[in-house]
Amino acid sequence: MVVAKLDPKGKSNILNECLFMRNNRLKFMPAYIMHDTADGRRYLVTRYIPYSVEDWLKRQDNWLQALSALARQMLECIRQLHGIDHIHRDVKPDNFRVDDQGKVFLIDYGLVK
Ligand SMILES: Nc1ncnc2c1ncn2[C@@H]1O[C@H](COP(=O)(O)OP(=O)(O)O)[C@@H](O)[C@H]1O
Ligand SMILES: [Mg+2]
Repeated sequence: MVVAKLDPKGKSNILNECLFMRNNRLKFMPAYIMHDTADGRRYLVTRYIPYSVEDWLKRQDNWLQALSALARQMLECIRQLHGIDHIHRDVKPDNFRVDDQGKVFLIDYGLVK
């Protein structure tokens, strides 16, 4: 399954995000599939990651253990991004997703530098 992020009208950082995702395929980034422009609007297609952090935690019996596992992985995403000399600049719970195995992904690279 995939998800398409459409360029919102007006000021947007979607080209920065498209190029970053295409050029830096780190294992905590949803797989980049393609980007293009249609009817004057740029869009980015990546792999769909099913759960928000909140939704994932709601499904877990041991909430505290699950939170600790997520937090560890979230920090590891940031550490690895900094390891390739980039900063995300919009780190917040909404910008992480979780897959069926509990693996954490960092999304939303519009502001990355
Ligand atoms: N790969 C993805 N898989 C599942 N949902 C996603 C994915 N990328 C984005 N989303 C959903 O779309 C929302 C907005 O995407 P995001 O890239 O964070 O854009 P924005 O710049 O609008 O915050 C996310 O908070 C998430 O709910
Ligand atoms: Mg976001």
